[in-house]
Amino acid sequence: MKKQVEGANGKLGIMMPGLGAVATTMIAGVVAARRGLSKPIGSLTQMGTIRVGKRTDNNEPLIKDFVPLAKLEDLAFGGWDVYEDNVYDAAMKAKVIDGHLLYDIKDELEAIKPYKAAFDKNYVKNLDGTYVKEAATKWDLAQQVIEDIKDFKAKNNCERIVLVWCGSTEIYLEPSAVHQTLAAFEQGLKDNDANIAPSMIYAYAALKLGYAYANGAPNLTVDIPAMLELAKQTQTPVAGKDFKTGQTLMKTVLAPGLMARSLGVRGWFSDNILGNRDGLVLDDPDNFKTKEVSKLGVLEDIFKPEQNPDLYGDMYHKIRINYYPPHGDNKESWDNIDIFGWMGYKMQIKINFLCRDSILAAPIVLDLALFSDLAKRAGMSGIQEWLSFYLKSPQTKEGLRPENDIFKQLEKLHNTLRYIMGEELITHLGLDYYEEN
Ligand SMILES: NC(=O)c1ccc[n+]([C@@H]2O[C@H](COP(=O)([O-])OP(=O)(O)OC[C@H]3O[C@@H](n4cnc5c(N)ncnc54)[C@H](O)[C@@H]3O)[C@@H](O)[C@H]2O)c1
Repeated sequence: MKKQVEGANGKLGIMMPGLGAVATTMIAGVVAARRGLSKPIGSLTQMGTIRVGKRTDNNEPLIKDFVPLAKLEDLAFGGWDVYEDNVYDAAMKAKVIDGHLLYDIKDELEAIKPYKAAFDKNYVKNLDGTYVKEAATKWDLAQQVIEDIKDFKAKNNCERIVLVWCGSTEIYLEPSAVHQTLAAFEQGLKDNDANIAPSMIYAYAALKLGYAYANGAPNLTVDIPAMLELAKQTQTPVAGKDFKTGQTLMKTVLAPGLMARSLGVRGWFSDNILGNRDGLVLDDPDNFKTKEVSKLGVLEDIFKPEQNPDLYGDMYHKIRINYYPPHGDNKESWDNIDIFGWMGYKMQIKINFLCRDSILAAPIVLDLALFSDLAKRAGMSGIQEWLSFYLKSPQTKEGLRPENDIFKQLEKLHNTLRYIMGEELITHLGLDYYEEN
């Protein structure tokens, strides 16, 4: 049965804590697409198709024609940063997009200015921005963020708002007592509890207002019981965490292939160099730890060594990220994969990916925003596991193993869209085509 989905009427505001390389690249790309200057390549919502019905029906519409999504023309952009730069200046500094293209859309980008950040250097040591809110308590900061969101919504005449965290990776935090219930969390905000990071303040503000929150960094943010309690209370979707781009994207494409053919893996060594501000932040060991934990889980989850000890029980997995300014946003990664086949014979795979970090991440921000908005309008709340497709460390219900295989994730996403629209789910069994005759 088709779910009741409210139409995508009026404007959708996409607000991002962190108007750095990723956020500005996304905004510039959408503005350029709206003006016919480029195409939204890499965005499933804009360019992807979905099969509907039987294979013999030959019905594969664009996803954006199949489900009611906000249109690019109906998007407004805003956010917060610890630097005062408007989106044009920030994009120029990020050096992801050519200056001449940015110049062509300067008027629109220049008009997007950040609100002052809810920021604390203790959580991101390598940043020194000063465009920062002042308040006696984290509770007061949350109220200020709530006011910002309301202000943005009114000024931009938006019907709906979603937040996507595009801010820096914060230091590693473990879930603790203050994260367990909404009451404990709200008390912690008032007591300035050190276990409440700035990202949690934005998430709290969004969820309190009933606006979806997607987490693009590996921070502990919405993956705590207190936030899920709030999401349930306000019927709000959440998704996390950490955009799946570059090396991890390649891992979740390749590992399922090796596993599918029962090939063994003895070692997977991943090295990276990058020189953008994200790389600078990750140069601090406490911030790197957050990223490392998020990246490490992927192979374990796909290979399930405890179920496949002969093939993956002895696998050595190592990840390194090195800050290397000359490369800027153009991350380079190397993977050395030691695999083995029939009778244990050894083989090697080498990958050298010269990627562009923010070019890969930008369409993910757009899609997460559009799908989170769809989820809200479809009455779906809490963890949106179907959005794992975009995320390195997918958030799931406690005790539920995440699915990291990108092909299974895509099926889950497609089937969720079919489910929302009341179309039959597709199992790929295919026997019916032969049984009919
Ligand atoms: N680019 C990718 O491929 C990719 C992949 C996965 C995750 N990510 C994550 O996405 C995030 C953004 O990446 P980026 O390359 O745009 O980094 P960036 O450093 O260019 O931008 C992040 C921005 O966040 C701002 N910021 C930090 N703390 C803030 C706060 N509390 N409030 C408001 N603003 C704050 C910083 O000043 C900075 O401008 C990072 O956490 C990164 O780890 C990026």
